[in-house]
Amino acid sequence: MGDKMATLTIDGNELQLPVYNGSEGPSVMDISSLYKDSGYFTYDPGFLSTASCESSITFIDGEKGILRYRGYDIDELAENCDYLSTCHLLLYGELPDAAQKEWFDRKMTLHTMAHEQLQFMMRGFPRRAHPMAIMVGAAASLSAFYHDSLDINDPEQRELAAFRMIAKMPTIAAMCYKYSIGQPFVYPDNDLGFAENFLHMMFATPCEKYKVSPILADAMDKILILHADHEQNASTSTVRLAGSSGANPFACVGAGIASLWGPAHGGANEAVINMLEEIENVKNIPEFIERAKDKNDPFRLMGFGHRVYKNYDPRAKVLRQTCKQVLEELGIKDEPLLDIAVELEKIALEDEYFVERKLYPNVDFYSGIIYKAMGIPASMYTVLFAIARTSGWVAQWKEMIEDPKQKIGRPRQLFTGPEGRHLDGSVIRKTA
Ligand code: ACO
Repeated sequence: MGDKMATLTIDGNELQLPVYNGSEGPSVMDISSLYKDSGYFTYDPGFLSTASCESSITFIDGEKGILRYRGYDIDELAENCDYLSTCHLLLYGELPDAAQKEWFDRKMTLHTMAHEQLQFMMRGFPRRAHPMAIMVGAAASLSAFYHDSLDINDPEQRELAAFRMIAKMPTIAAMCYKYSIGQPFVYPDNDLGFAENFLHMMFATPCEKYKVSPILADAMDKILILHADHEQNASTSTVRLAGSSGANPFACVGAGIASLWGPAHGGANEAVINMLEEIENVKNIPEFIERAKDKNDPFRLMGFGHRVYKNYDPRAKVLRQTCKQVLEELGIKDEPLLDIAVELEKIALEDEYFVERKLYPNVDFYSGIIYKAMGIPASMYTVLFAIARTSGWVAQWKEMIEDPKQKIGRPRQLFTGPEGRHLDGSVIRKTA
């Protein structure tokens, strides 16, 4: 039973609903037997008030602007840890000690190479294909190559699948990019760190080495940490829902990538740059601000607002600083899009419409700008998000599979279609 009971009165009957307290955050009412006891479903489009699972990985308090992985504040992790340590934390619940770090980093490094056959699958795509379209297919296709890590009931195979998924994502992502620009694929270099290796595979060619700047590698690593997990967001919930049927983890991550692609989710960082380009000049900003406020205009300021954060996105705070460091390192001073971004942020933070609705810049606002400065094309931005989020998807998938209370996800509905009818137009009589 719960920590206390809530009483629901319906049709003259009193129902007792157990209430559970988590370690932090709002308590939940257990409505799992509501239908059995009352014949009613609950209705909550967009899951505004519904906890879909129990989880001990990530905690968010959107009102206070808090994001924690396994209890640690995101800014403390971004400042003191690297991405692979963060992956260890997400997967196993603790940061690695020195021996665990050596073991984990080595394991991850050993799995960076993609199956040689994968490139032939890639070559089947049109060169103009959006990299996210290729990523959806390529991630799911790992299930066709790695048959020895598909048994979700075997903990060792689950772990192997987790290593493969996280370690191969940067390789696959860089392959998507190289393919789109007609350059040969670059193999991973296992002497390099995780973020460094990704930049190497993106920008080196067989004839030209690419010296990765430590500041850019560090910025990329921070971006990966900041995007690694975000509790039950749309793509993570998609991974969990897909996995709840017992589907293999590679296919589930493919489903997560599809969900991430949308502009209301991971596609926003690409949409930010497209928007800045559309604004074109600082003097046009007021016109776009007015459009964003106009209910009859579908235009929204991309990179502003968040379903959960009604305060400054804590990830945006870290990236704002990183953004400055990257621009300094690259010696970028006169970039019109950045001038527009800075001015837009200033105006939106002061404008009553945005202040009233607590629409602050989100993480995508700054990540898009950093990628642009690094020379990464806009179509790759969501792909980078997918690389980072893979650790969160895999950790959440693993937690779900290991949860004894796990059931296949099967939401209910409020049906508003036609009542039962026969082909001759007569109505099907309702049975009691
Ligand atoms: N520009 C202008 N108005 C906005 C914006 C925006 N970016 N975001 C929200 N609003 C307004 C809405 O019109 C609404 O106004 P109203 O109360 O007068 O009707 C109010 O603010 C609340 O908006 P909702 O749509 O109810 O908020 P919701 O939580 O459903 O949406 C979302 C969150 C989808 C992120 C939204 O803010 C948005 O579309 N932002 C732009 C896209 C974006 O940056 N997405 C990235 C999210 S971060 C991530 O996925 C990592």
